[in-house]
Amino acid sequence: MALIEWKDEYSVGVPDVDHEHQELIALINDLHDAMSRDNSDFTVMDFLGEIYAHVSAHFALEEKIMRERKYDQYAEHKADHEALLDELRDIMDDYEENAWFSDEEFAKAVEKWFSDHFRNRDARLHKHLG
Ligand SMILES: [Fe+2]
Ligand SMILES: [Fe+2]
Repeated sequence: MALIEWKDEYSVGVPDVDHEHQELIALINDLHDAMSRDNSDFTVMDFLGEIYAHVSAHFALEEKIMRERKYDQYAEHKADHEALLDELRDIMDDYEENAWFSDEEFAKAVEKWFSDHFRNRDARLHKHLG
């Protein structure tokens, strides 16, 4: 079962961008499957590390476009990206310290962040850039 489902409300109205976001969600689901398999040697830390790497690459690309286009809300948008990366690092630290990880809590946090960020920040950015 997919950990995170794509929802129409995530759409920013630009098909290419939606496609990229859909791929990000599909990747999270694939990694989750890899981790959940019986006798999997793909650990929680591998799972979180891979997500962190892909999400930060996606953000870096968006930030590069914003800088190139001198986007007016660059600072706020970047701050929002950093908040998610901080949250991911907190989840990793938590896991390292307490060996505690909940798939459900993780999915809830990521879904909440995606729906806020895609709808508010990314939708505005991509409409603005046209
Ligand atoms: Fe963004
Ligand atoms: Fe994005």
